[in-house]
Amino acid sequence: MRVALVGLGDIGLSAHLPALQRHPDINLVQLADPNPTRRTAVAELQIPLSAAVDPTTVDAVVLATPPWVTPGLTISYAQAGLFVLAEKPVATSIEAAGVYGRLNPDERGRVQVGLTYRHDPAIGQLASWIADGTLGETVLVRAHIYDEPFRPDDTEHTARITATLEHGPPVVHEGAHVFDWLTCLLNGQPTVEDAWAVHTRPGLPAPNLTGARLTYPGGHQALVEFGWFTGALPRCELTVLGDRGLAVLDGFTFDLTLTTAEGEKVVRFPGDRMTRCFDRQLDRFVALYNGTRAAEPSLDDGLAALHTAQLIAGKTT
Ligand SMILES: NC(=O)c1ccc[n+]([C@@H]2O[C@H](COP(=O)([O-])OP(=O)(O)OC[C@H]3O[C@@H](n4cnc5c(N)ncnc54)[C@H](O)[C@@H]3O)[C@@H](O)[C@H]2O)c1
Repeated sequence: MRVALVGLGDIGLSAHLPALQRHPDINLVQLADPNPTRRTAVAELQIPLSAAVDPTTVDAVVLATPPWVTPGLTISYAQAGLFVLAEKPVATSIEAAGVYGRLNPDERGRVQVGLTYRHDPAIGQLASWIADGTLGETVLVRAHIYDEPFRPDDTEHTARITATLEHGPPVVHEGAHVFDWLTCLLNGQPTVEDAWAVHTRPGLPAPNLTGARLTYPGGHQALVEFGWFTGALPRCELTVLGDRGLAVLDGFTFDLTLTTAEGEKVVRFPGDRMTRCFDRQLDRFVALYNGTRAAEPSLDDGLAALHTAQLIAGKTT
């Protein structure tokens, strides 16, 4: 499969590029970014570079682009007949995502969304403990998602996160992942019961802390918190508590700790989380291209996560 990587920024270069180079069934034939500085930074790789991809020269594109750019690119490449792995969130709002309505079912079916961490075996393990009653009949999930510390001296990071906040609070950007995990874990879409948001200092383009209480089918509850851009960060983790046990998912490593009456056990999967998940994500993308599997996560999965995030953001204004 001939693939072009579009968007040579942080996640493009740190995770997608090495994963694409590692994958045995992928031939990385082009790198594209309209920003010449981004292209210069990878010139030594000797992979053809351009401002935009000529769709006649590739089978698929990986879009590591900002979410206010991704919808337009996804549509144009899918309509040109390509397979598209598009970064999350699929758009910055449900209104902005309305453009996906231009895709016909065949084009839509060729779009996989970069909800990368759904592919981690830790999510599958946690889902089994919930489904088989290891933790109890109904559970309380607490998702504490804190990332992107404020480091004023790091001007690139500060500019990137400020620009991202201009297009929505962390619940939109991080929520894409978390609401997708919760749907996998709790088997359905939530009702948003209540929500709150805080600006921790003046001048931020969006509230940088947001939280909400959600109910899921079967009586499961979730308390979610998203925070960016404070000078220090609380622990990033997801806990699942029921009558029979407690499971803790480390937000960065995805190591799992299960505590029940039988004691405590730690479950660790091989490799680091990022390598493991970006590799598995590409396995699915190759299977989509080969016609052996449907897109997972699909565009509808990405839209469902965005819908929940927007319901929460809407309740805080
Ligand atoms: N899946 C994950 O785990 C994960 C992790 C981090 C970020 N992300 C997502 O990846 C996306 C990119 O994030 P980032 O931190 O790398 O941002 P970034 O700003 O560092 O990089 C984005 C790149 O896209 C380029 N770009 C802008 N417009 C373009 C266009 N029209 N065509 C091609 N390239 C264009 C920019 O020049 C830049 O190089 C975001 O949506 C973010 O939410 C996903």
